[in-house]
Amino acid sequence: MQSRMEEGKDPAVRATPSRPFPLRLLQFFLVFLVIGLGASFLSMYMIRHFGIHNVALVQSTIKPCFELPVTIENWIRPSSGLLHSMNDTELFWRATFVPRVKNYPFERTPKIAFMFLTKGPLPMAPLWEKFFKGNERLYSIYVHSLPSYSADFPPSSVFHRRQIPSQVAEWGMMSMCDAERRLLANALLDISNEWFILVSESCIPLQNFSIVYRYISRSRYSFMGAVDEPGPYGRGRYDENMAPEINMSDWRKGSQWFEINRELAVKIVGDSTYYPKLKDFCLPHKCYVDEHYFQTMLTINAPRLLANRSLTFVDWSRGGAHPATFGKDDIKEEFFKKILQDQTCLYNNQPSSLCFLFARKFSPNALGPLLDIATKTLGI
Ligand SMILES: *[C@@H]1O[C@H](CO)[C@@H](O)[C@H](O)[C@H]1NC(C)=O
Ligand SMILES: *[C@@H]1O[C@H](CO)[C@@H](O)[C@H](O)[C@H]1NC(C)=O
Ligand SMILES: *[C@@H]1O[C@H](CO)[C@@H](O)[C@H](O)[C@H]1NC(C)=O
Ligand SMILES: *[C@@H]1O[C@H](CO)[C@@H](O)[C@H](O)[C@H]1NC(C)=O
Repeated sequence: MQSRMEEGKDPAVRATPSRPFPLRLLQFFLVFLVIGLGASFLSMYMIRHFGIHNVALVQSTIKPCFELPVTIENWIRPSSGLLHSMNDTELFWRATFVPRVKNYPFERTPKIAFMFLTKGPLPMAPLWEKFFKGNERLYSIYVHSLPSYSADFPPSSVFHRRQIPSQVAEWGMMSMCDAERRLLANALLDISNEWFILVSESCIPLQNFSIVYRYISRSRYSFMGAVDEPGPYGRGRYDENMAPEINMSDWRKGSQWFEINRELAVKIVGDSTYYPKLKDFCLPHKCYVDEHYFQTMLTINAPRLLANRSLTFVDWSRGGAHPATFGKDDIKEEFFKKILQDQTCLYNNQPSSLCFLFARKFSPNALGPLLDIATKTLGI
């Protein structure tokens, strides 16, 4: 008591800014008290006039801001972004959901999922943009790149925000097949994706979109290159430890660049039988898993659905461990005439001269000449 009186006498103490604080605090309390009382009066008023049910209703109509109503549209609509926080175990589990009722109770336009497996940039992006233009209803795009790379496509680009959560993938290692399964799993989350094509940053389209869509959608088979190759680079890579799940006669080799339908995509993402065999017994430098895993497991599981050839042209004629890379000096009309016209294959069991829809490998400096001849030669 005494000390307070002394404080009050001291002008220096009275002048300190902290002095009015308790008064402000009191004002705040009063304001909150008034708001709180107002709110309780309001709710009492509402309960009296609309009854307890309607107050609950008012609260529940506010809820849908956070929770979408359960309609078929909300159930089938893909999420607007591709980023998620599922790990592979969770993602693969979710991606392998398959409806048991075969007819879709809504209008479904089947789409082609283009899955770009890349290290970083997409040097051929301008050519692909041209290819996709005007076909927005019929495709979707997924890009898997090294996690250290951050893509920077403008909102006008078809590649804008199409990057999926990625991990390091090394050529010839299981991490490469993991990346491919991750691409498939992310693409499976969109119920309208029916066909799945794996392409790389050095791939280009050889035909316009309409031809690609028609060729794929009307095919009875999926285009997975799978051959029973004798010799050290084919059967020679088989390991007896893979039996009895995989026998020598089931062992297949083929290009990594595939096109498969939804049914096969689910099989690949859902596999736990063949994965450990390949992971343990197909190792560099004796065996390269991306040339054997899907090719072999689909040959065992769904041989009648496979065309056993790839849609992606590669030139191995120069020999060596890697196929030829084409640069700006290679891009001439005759070059494409050769690829497009010197071919025969089976399409739906009939001889066909249209065998390849895509080609690789093209170096970044081929882009300019490719754009120059795209319309005339490739019809893009
Ligand atoms: C993903 O998370 C689940 C739950 O935490 C865990 O059981 C599983 O092993 C994880 N998978 C991977 C590949 O990390
Ligand atoms: C696609 O190419 C074919 C043959 O090259 C052509 O007949 C067709 O008009 C082209 N379609 C479009 C949409 O450009
Ligand atoms: C591999 O051969 C064994 C013994 O002949 C057989 O039991 C097994 O089913 C075969 N595996 C496949 C995938 O055909
Ligand atoms: C592809 O090969 C499998 C056996 O590996 C065979 O059963 C199937 O008929 C072949 N597909 C075509 C289209 O010939």
